Amino acid sequence: MNKYLLFLFCVVSTAIGQAKAQKFKDVAQTPPMGWNSWNKFACDINEQVIKEAADALVSSGMQAAGYEYIVIDDCWHGKRDENGFIHADKEKFPSGIKSLVDYIHNKGLKFGIYSDAGTETCGGEPGSRGHEYQDAITYAKWGVDYLKYDWCNTGKQNAQASYTTMRNALYEAGRPVLFAICEWGDNKPWEWAEDIGHMWRTTGDIYPCWDCEEDHGDWSSWGVLKILDMQDGLRKYAGPGHWNDPDMMEVGNGMTVNEDRAHFTMWSMLSAPLIAGNDLADMSAETVAILTNKDMIAINQDSLGIQGFKYSSKEGLETWFKPLKNGDWAVTFLNRADREHQVNFNWEDHQIKDPDFEYSVDFKNTLFSLKDVWAQKDLKTTKSSFNAVVAPHDVITLQLTKK
Ligand code: GLA
Repeated sequence: MNKYLLFLFCVVSTAIGQAKAQKFKDVAQTPPMGWNSWNKFACDINEQVIKEAADALVSSGMQAAGYEYIVIDDCWHGKRDENGFIHADKEKFPSGIKSLVDYIHNKGLKFGIYSDAGTETCGGEPGSRGHEYQDAITYAKWGVDYLKYDWCNTGKQNAQASYTTMRNALYEAGRPVLFAICEWGDNKPWEWAEDIGHMWRTTGDIYPCWDCEEDHGDWSSWGVLKILDMQDGLRKYAGPGHWNDPDMMEVGNGMTVNEDRAHFTMWSMLSAPLIAGNDLADMSAETVAILTNKDMIAINQDSLGIQGFKYSSKEGLETWFKPLKNGDWAVTFLNRADREHQVNFNWEDHQIKDPDFEYSVDFKNTLFSLKDVWAQKDLKTTKSSFNAVVAPHDVITLQLTKK
């Protein structure tokens, strides 16, 4: 081939390659479920910690309940070699990432890793800027199934362009990867990322408290209610394969059992990714019971993939509805207040209309059976009114099944 033809061939094949690059289509059709090291361990990670989390995900029953990804967050990195390829920190991960991935795959789990669109990660490790294709090849060689891609040290980079570059790099590397965008909602990814990532963070970092703001100087992390309120207006952007991500869970990281239950419930009502962030190898029975409640997980994983919406709010008592497949619904009474709330919900007085999607119900015309998801109790039907007390910082969730 002469030089001119070779040049033409390269230009055309690059153009075809880039035109073809897209996000992996069949990934994350329901909200991703798994565990991530950051909330509990931050930079204090090593291969033992990750293996123990994987072991515990299986032995606790979480894998059976649907959790599948084990994700290493920041600080696994060593240095780039002279050719620019990234390697793991040899002291923390003496066996290397590939062998850890094999260990995790052998349990029937999937493996996730973390990088950053800028020059350095938030923890000061090498970022992927300028090394996107190399890193994507490395991840594919290691067998990585999930990439969380952060936004520190990005200077004047354009977010949409930067995330598209990494999406293309992952696609070209050929191994299906769930691409988790983490730019904290700064550039409204819900408006442009549907074809780029499978989930996008909508807020800054979560903090294990009910309603606090934790001030870190030039940034803050946020309690559960603060993050919940920041989801307002975003539900119309989410659906199968592209989820709003209100951040990883803090269940088991120091809040009360009521608060943990409410946190898990609201993340389920929001069709949020359910990424546990606690020490799985050292969990209380209550934490396990919350994280593995099958009915709540079924509400989160419902194939419609429609987030719940706030139907009413009064004195700190909120009522949320979530449309489910087959005309079913989930209803949550969330008590944000420091005192008990009495619920008296006479179904037939209510006509529910989803504000963003075509779902509605008039309880005068349609009858449902009721199950209390946390009490695991079948109740009467929507013919009679539902009366109960919701404890402070707690929830009652009902599963409504069409009769
Ligand atoms: C950012 C992200 C966190 C975590 C840290 C790691 O703050 O939002 O979820 O990944 O970086 O340094």
